[in-house]
Amino acid sequence: MALIELQAVEKAYTLGGETVRAAKGINLTIEQGEFVVILGPSGSGKTTLLNLLGGLEKPDTGKILVDGQDIAALGETKLSDYRRTNVGLIFQFFNLFPTLSALENVNFAAELVGKQARKPVEMLEAVGLGSRLNHYPGQLSGGQQQRVAIARALVKNPKLILADEPTGSLDYKTGIDVLKTMRDFNTSTGQTCIIVTHNATIAGMADRVIHVGDGQVHNSVINPTPKLVEELEW
Ligand SMILES: Nc1ncnc2c1ncn2[C@@H]1O[C@H](COP(=O)(O)OP(=O)(O)OP(=O)(O)O)[C@@H](O)[C@H]1O
Ligand SMILES: [Mg+2]
Repeated sequence: MALIELQAVEKAYTLGGETVRAAKGINLTIEQGEFVVILGPSGSGKTTLLNLLGGLEKPDTGKILVDGQDIAALGETKLSDYRRTNVGLIFQFFNLFPTLSALENVNFAAELVGKQARKPVEMLEAVGLGSRLNHYPGQLSGGQQQRVAIARALVKNPKLILADEPTGSLDYKTGIDVLKTMRDFNTSTGQTCIIVTHNATIAGMADRVIHVGDGQVHNSVINPTPKLVEELEW
């Protein structure tokens, strides 16, 4: 059984009398352990898709099966349990608590999931920040802040890591660092990672690239020989 299966997923937003169909009958399957890049231009529905997968939003119609369970059919309490225990989110602008240190930010996420959590200090060491545990976000570089955000997502030991333009506000070298951190984790833990981006270069490192446009999946291409992050040509 696939880890994720979307069946005929529709999502529309109405604003000021105008309706936008951000997901138009999406069908999609993602296997356990895959490193997937969802690629599409601005406005194509990538964030919408990620929000649906993460249980942050509900589809208007259709099914979103995760491990066989339809999260679109869950009530608010169960959906919030799903988000807390199954999903690790990474955003373009990190979203760390500015008044908590790196370690406190990661601890906070660990406490949300109790026994399921990995060890916060080990997670920060694994992303190369063992010497920055007590730094506050404002005392860290952009790439370091994003690596704290990755540690915060991974410490929950979630089924699914979802990242929305994780390198969008980083320079080239720092972006490479962040992508490498994500790929290393995917390789060592077998955790499923989904990155949405408009940056076609990132697609080279994926096991599979899903091209989206105008709320639809255009195609899904398996990459038989994903590139190492260092080999991506920018
Ligand atoms: N909360 C909302 N209310 C109204 N319209 C929305 C809302 N969220 C998204 N949309 C519309 O849905 C479409 C898809 O938006 P989405 O944010 O998913 O695109 P995206 O591919 O992530 O774009 P970007 O690369 O710029 O982040 C857009 O046309 C957008 O204007
Ligand atoms: Mg977006």
